[in-house]
Amino acid sequence: MADTLTITDNRTGKQYNLPITDGTIKATDLRQIKVDDEDGGLSTYDPAFMNTSACRSRITFIDGDKGILEYRGYPIEQLAEHSNYLETAYLILFGELPTAAQLTTWITEITFHTMLHENIKKLMEGFQYDAHPMGVFLSTVGAFSTFYPDAKQIFDEKSRKKQIHRLIAKVPTIAAYAYRHSIGRPYNYPDNDLSFTGNFLNMLFRMTELKYHANPVLERALAVLFILHADHEQNCSTSAMRGIGSSHVDPYSAMAGAAAALYGPLHGGANEAVLRMLNEIGSVQHIPDFIKRVKAGEGRLMGFGHRVYKSYDPRAKIIKKTADEVFEVTGKNPLLEIALELERIALQDEYFVTRKLYPNVDFYSGLIYQAMGFPVEMFPVLFAIPRTSGWIAQWEEMILDPEQKIARPKQVYIGAARRDYVPLTSRS
Ligand code: CMC
Repeated sequence: MADTLTITDNRTGKQYNLPITDGTIKATDLRQIKVDDEDGGLSTYDPAFMNTSACRSRITFIDGDKGILEYRGYPIEQLAEHSNYLETAYLILFGELPTAAQLTTWITEITFHTMLHENIKKLMEGFQYDAHPMGVFLSTVGAFSTFYPDAKQIFDEKSRKKQIHRLIAKVPTIAAYAYRHSIGRPYNYPDNDLSFTGNFLNMLFRMTELKYHANPVLERALAVLFILHADHEQNCSTSAMRGIGSSHVDPYSAMAGAAAALYGPLHGGANEAVLRMLNEIGSVQHIPDFIKRVKAGEGRLMGFGHRVYKSYDPRAKIIKKTADEVFEVTGKNPLLEIALELERIALQDEYFVTRKLYPNVDFYSGLIYQAMGFPVEMFPVLFAIPRTSGWIAQWEEMILDPEQKIARPKQVYIGAARRDYVPLTSRS
């Protein structure tokens, strides 16, 4: 029979025909296969969701074997070359590239929401001087839910749109304040005459000058990096956004959780970890020894490997080119030599070749950020700013999807069987 999977239960001889749709069977269809009359039916065991689709999505397409990444059908290479971050964010959120009029309105709407409430500033001032900016970032995003209680109206389209504008517009301001806080400098207010990335650089780096003008090459490089990081389908932080959002909490609270997931060194914290690794290696002579240790299981080659890409990450290719443009302006990052040699050696090494471990987006992004003057602690924050568009697009898609419910994976219980409570005095 076409488009069905026939399963024969050897214990009972019964046959089950499960429909195949879009290359998947429905996990709940397995429930009809019973082990005995009492049980809830067969289920799948899939730690880390290695082979389970949890949603149907129209936002981002990835072919990990071929190294393809598309937002709403547009190849990442074309967007990185021709688009800018706000246009790409519009595409991701609303499904189509904006017309000229739509883009003007969108930019105006975002620009009008870049300021933070003064009490948010006070809240941020309460953090220790050495607080990690990503900790400050995710806490502040969570605190937004108390400033915008209207965000609870998640089924009201107008309210959702308002939160979208606020989130896209305000995350660079939070990020810049977190950075200024960490270096003990006064916060810079947004300058609405500037581009999205131009204004961000202004809030980060303006000193006493009345008007800040970023170097156009760096302003553009940051826009390209933001485009590359805007969405990446069902990764760890996006799954967190969808999972938390499935309880119908407001998007700020959900996004605080997504940002927390991004903070981890296996996800958005990897670019920070790459820089620390390169510093630790210190010189090209130490690379063979470092590779040996990685192969012996003593740590990972950070910035290498990906759950989905089993070939060169297409984002890493674009970033390598952007790095050259940035280094023309800033001078070469001295760690670049180590990174290039590390990549060359790893790509020839049987350990990495057989496991299909290639450089991912984070391998070179940190080198660019560092050359642009960002401290390593800011790297995950720089990932979170553009990923905000992906998170909220995925969140909204989930909210509007009639097939979605509150997320609740099953478990296979392997703990103690039922037993009676033992009073404290009788325990040995
Ligand atoms: N260095 C050394 N060995 C590695 C690495 C690495 N970076 N990545 C995977 N492996 C090995 C791993 O030890 C395992 O070997 P074996 O089969 O002998 O046990 C095999 O490759 C498969 O690894 P895995 O951990 O099962 O793969 P995964 O899909 O669960 O992990 C990953 C994906 C990205 C977490 C992992 O490759 C990793 O830890 N990379 C380093 C961290 C990193 O760069 N993260 C950024 C990801 S891209 C940005 C983002 O989207 O967040």
